[in-house]
This record gives sequence, structure tokens and C-alpha cells, in this order.
Amino acid sequence: MIISDELTDKNDQIPLKYNENSKMKNFSEVSDKEELQYTIASAVEDFVSTKQSSLDDLFDELLLSNSIFKNKEVLRHSYTPEILPHRKNEIEKLASILVSAIKGETPSNIFVYGKTGTGKTVVVKYVGNGLVKKIGGKAFLKTSPSIDCNTGLPKPDLSSNGKMDMPITFIYINCEVVDTQYRLLSKLAEYFGQSVPLTGWPTDKIYDVFSQSLDSEKKLVIIILDEVDQLLKKGGDDVLYNLTRINGDLENAKVSIIGISNDLKFIEFLDPRVKSSLGEEEIIFPPYDAPQLMDILEDRSKISFNESVITPGVIPLCAAFAAQEHGDARRALDLLRTAGEIAERQNAKKVTEPHVRVAKDKIEQDRVSEVIKTLPTQSKLILYSVYLIEKYIPGEIITGDVFNIYKDLSNILKLDILTQRRVSDLIAELDMLGIINAKVVSKGRYGRTREISLGIPHSQLKNLLENDFKIKKVSSYVPPIQHRLI
Ligand SMILES: Nc1ncnc2c1ncn2[C@@H]1O[C@H](COP(=O)(O)OP(=O)(O)OP(=O)(O)O)[C@@H](O)[C@H]1O
Ligand SMILES: [Mg+2]
Repeated sequence: MIISDELTDKNDQIPLKYNENSKMKNFSEVSDKEELQYTIASAVEDFVSTKQSSLDDLFDELLLSNSIFKNKEVLRHSYTPEILPHRKNEIEKLASILVSAIKGETPSNIFVYGKTGTGKTVVVKYVGNGLVKKIGGKAFLKTSPSIDCNTGLPKPDLSSNGKMDMPITFIYINCEVVDTQYRLLSKLAEYFGQSVPLTGWPTDKIYDVFSQSLDSEKKLVIIILDEVDQLLKKGGDDVLYNLTRINGDLENAKVSIIGISNDLKFIEFLDPRVKSSLGEEEIIFPPYDAPQLMDILEDRSKISFNESVITPGVIPLCAAFAAQEHGDARRALDLLRTAGEIAERQNAKKVTEPHVRVAKDKIEQDRVSEVIKTLPTQSKLILYSVYLIEKYIPGEIITGDVFNIYKDLSNILKLDILTQRRVSDLIAELDMLGIINAKVVSKGRYGRTREISLGIPHSQLKNLLENDFKIKKVSSYVPPIQHRLI
């Protein structure tokens, strides 16, 4: 019996060719058991190494075929470009407020707001970085600074060059991550070398530790609270009240706060005293229009894509789609990047308009999937009830139908049952998220109700919801027909 000189792995259909150094032998030549074992082991080794080399070839091939992107990283959200088109006014206004720092004065607190993707974060970081470079100081632009193992202190991104009498420290905090008064104060204390336990201290104590470490020397500290509305949601506005008044407690150091938010209603919920001190200066970021988005995309595409890869209609289409969604530069960049990735996966040589359209659908699907995955269980059950009625019972669906099925499912899962009123509110929320369509209709003397239908394909919804183990448990439930209100 001869071992074939070409083996095919049935599983992956990769032909495995033995080369001339192969230990392939005629079995009749194998004299004893040991040699047979050696032969088999060598053949396995060859098999594995051949497999590895074909994988290497595959990677080489993929690398060579990657002719779309020059540098995809510059299309990521975290990248700060060197030039920010169409934000000259906002940059100038911010710089004109922060320039007091160079004169040794404390800049006013600033409230920056505008819709999502209008460049608030990138502009504030850009100007802050520029200020620190200009006059020396420290900039902590990451939410969690890396710790210097020699000193145990956070490492600054830019080190002090000692040009100023009054050093400047620039701290960026994303309040979506650092979202309570406790976390914020302990994070700030950490920047000044103090360590605070994750829980357990009274807030007064952390505040004292932070303000004493802050005040240990003369310095100006500019604290950027990005997504500051998130702080209000979980922590209330006490921390903002304290921080915007901290200068009264300090002898050496001075603090300026820059609050950033895309929630325009947030300011209305603030205590009037916090509102006036945080908003000493306000900078509003208007949405970009389509031509402005085109300029942003043109600049970014030159450094991220290989030459002549982007066909002429692509950037205007990405810009037009993003302009429809309140002029969001992040959306425009995501569309361009995703279109490039789709073209790359199809081994296309160029990115074309159809790639942008597919990218748009993909981004929308991903968004919906993410929203559904993170819904609370009660909302998932309500959504699943709508799905079950659409699947099993013909005719229009109204709130009462959904409530009945929802009650059954909650009983099976032994969950508390919400009131019909609350279920109706959650249906309205799902409507706002674009997952269902719920039209309010009048039923004459029976009052008003909602006519409900799913806003996304059944199969997508089923897979997403049944991924949740609680929903999986009720996946064999079939709604009884009498649950339908006549
Ligand atoms: N003028 C611009 N030039 C170049 N890139 C920009 C410009 N404005 C925004 N971007 C890019 O668009 C993306 C979104 O910007 P940014 O994160 O600053 O938005 P934002 O206003 O903070 O949004 P959100 O409110 O959602 O946090 C980033 O990748 C950023 O680099
Ligand atoms: Mg932002």
C-alpha cells in the first residue's frame, strides 16, 4: 500500500502536496513498529506544516490583494486629523477663551453642544492639545491614563516642558464611561496620584482628597467632561455644582470646566446655578451640510485609500446620506469605511456607489441589532409578542393584543407583569427606536389605541431575540387565537 502523493483534507478541501523531502514511504519498506510510528508522526508534521504554509500563502495573497486601503486606521473614530475643515469658527472661539490660560488667568467654563457627529470632541481635543503644546503642561487625553511603574503616577501623553510658571493640566473624561459622582471624583483624584477604592468612601472624603491633591501646587487644570449629560442621568448635578465652584475652595490651583453634550435638552434639567456657571461661555456646533461633509471625506480619503480607488460618485453619496441624518461626520466616515471594506471583501478594485448603498443597509442593520440586543427584558418580551402575533395571527395588531401575549410570556418566565399603561409606553419607545411602527388610531367609543407592525424583517428579529436565554425559553410558545381582542 502506498501513501498517495497528494492528500486532500476532506474538511477544508485544501490539497496537500508532499514535496521531495517528504517522509512518504512504501509501507512494505517499513521494517518495524518504531519506524512506522516515526513515519506517521513525520507525515502528520508535514501535514501540519503544509497546512501552515498554505495559510501563510493565504495571508500573503490577502495582503497583496488589499489594494483598496492605504491606511484604514485614519477612518476610525479615535483618529484625530491634523486639519478640521469647516470648524474654523468653533476652533477660534474655543482658542480665544482658552488663551487666558497663556496669560496666567483662569479661562471661563465652557459648555459645548451640538448634534452627534458635529466634531465637538475632536475640536476640543485638538485645541486642548494645541494649547498644551504651545505653553507646556500635561495633557491626559485618555479616560484611563497609563500608570508610570516608577512613580505609580499616571503617565501624561505630553510631558511638561516647563515653559510656564503656572503649569497646565488638560484632563479629558468621557462621562459615558465615568458616569457617577463617585467615579468621576476618584478618577480625578487618580490623575493627581491618589488612589481611591472602587466603592465605599463617602463622597465628601473623595472630594477632599481630590481637592487637596489638586491644590498641592500652583497649576491650572482644564477638565473636559465629554457626554456630560450621562453624568446627570446617573449622578445628578451635585458633582457639576461642586466642580464649577471648586475654585472657591482652592488656594493654589485653578480649575476650568469644559462640558460637552449632544443632548440639547440636558441644560434645561440643570440646577439654574450649575447652568449659569457651566455655561459662562457657550459654543454651538451646527450640523454639517452635504458639501462640507464632502470636504471632510475628501481629506480623509486621500490618506486612507489608495489612489484612484474611490470612484467619483462615492463621496457625494456618502455625504448625501449622512447629511440626511442631521449632518453627522461620523456617519459619513463610517459609510465610506464600510463601503471600502465591502469592496475589499468582494475583491473589487474600486469602491463604487453600490458599495455605499450596501454599506448603508449594513450600518442600519448593525445599529438595529445593537439596539435590540441591549433592550431590557420587558421590552424584548413586548417585541417578541408583536413578532408572535404577526407570525401566527392575521389582521391588525393593537396594544391590547400585545399586552395579552406579553402577560402569558411573563407568567411562563415568572417575571413581574407591567401594567398595560407601561406596556403602551414601552411600545411607544420601540416605535421611536424604529424597531416597530405604532400608529395611534381612534376606535370610536372604545377610545384610542395603537396599530402595531414590525419595522424589521422577521428572521432578523427572531434570531436576535432568541439569542437571549430568557426569550429562548418561550420560543415554543404559540399564541392562542382567543387572545385576539375582537
Ligand atoms: N471638521 C472635521 N474634519 C475632519 N473630521 C471631522 C470633522 N468633524 C468631525 N470629524 C470626524 O467625525 C467623527 C465624529 O466627530 P466627533 O467625535 O468630534 O463628534 P461629536 O460632535 O463629538 O459627536 P457625539 O456628540 O456623538 O460625541 C470623528 O471621527 C471626527 O474625527
Ligand atoms: Mg463626542
